[in-house]
Amino acid sequence: MSRRAVDVFFTPREIRPVEVAVVVDVLRATSTLAEALAAGYARVACCASVATARELRAPGRVLAGERACVRVPDFELGNSPVAMATSPLGGEELVLATTNGSPAVVAAARAADRVLVGCLLNLRAVLAAVPTEADVAIVCAGTNGRPALEDVYVAGRFVAALSGVPSDAARIAERVASGYGTPLEPLAASEDAAHLRATGQEQDIAWCSRESVLEIAPEVSSSRDGVSVVGPPRGETFHKSGTMRTPQEIA
Ligand code: MLT
Repeated sequence: MSRRAVDVFFTPREIRPVEVAVVVDVLRATSTLAEALAAGYARVACCASVATARELRAPGRVLAGERACVRVPDFELGNSPVAMATSPLGGEELVLATTNGSPAVVAAARAADRVLVGCLLNLRAVLAAVPTEADVAIVCAGTNGRPALEDVYVAGRFVAALSGVPSDAARIAERVASGYGTPLEPLAASEDAAHLRATGQEQDIAWCSRESVLEIAPEVSSSRDGVSVVGPPRGETFHKSGTMRTPQEIA
């Protein structure tokens, strides 16, 4: 029996057909998405653009998203996982439009049979949801078409825990990950973290560096016209493992 392939796409531009894709935008879209489901949203509609999100505006839907890390002015929420966890507003469905993360989910859904959404917060749960024999690719959202250190780090963590035959890209990511002692180091050293500090949102960096505190493996359930709907696998109930802490406590 041949062993399954384990690959990494450093940016969405590299996406090609694969059985299972795991999309990662640890700072911050996939962390926000995991927190939204943990906070009680039934699903998250990931949008390829802000315009698409606006078209979905309806009762029961909360619009969240950013441009240059700052909340889109007419949206109810920005893209902060801390805010999502501590004051999620409530609603049946979150409509999420971010610069790189939500479009990466939409792009992956066009190419993969199954799409999971991962970050550090739900690392263990997503690893458990990846079928053992399917070819898998970790899709890094990156930043504006370029690789992002923090996503490559998380991709390497996935590669290290997945059995199979790694591509060269997967080996590169694994080496990057093994070079850091704690998850906070690569996240804090990244260009995206510098941008979060510059916009007064540094609390999100430490928050997103926490590992396996959400037992959630979000998965795309349907996709159409620039929107991919992400929810829990059927029948799964969500709960937080570990104690909820305030941003001040984790900073
Ligand atoms: C993105 O999708 O580009 C990011 O999540 C940006 C951010 O940190 O808000």
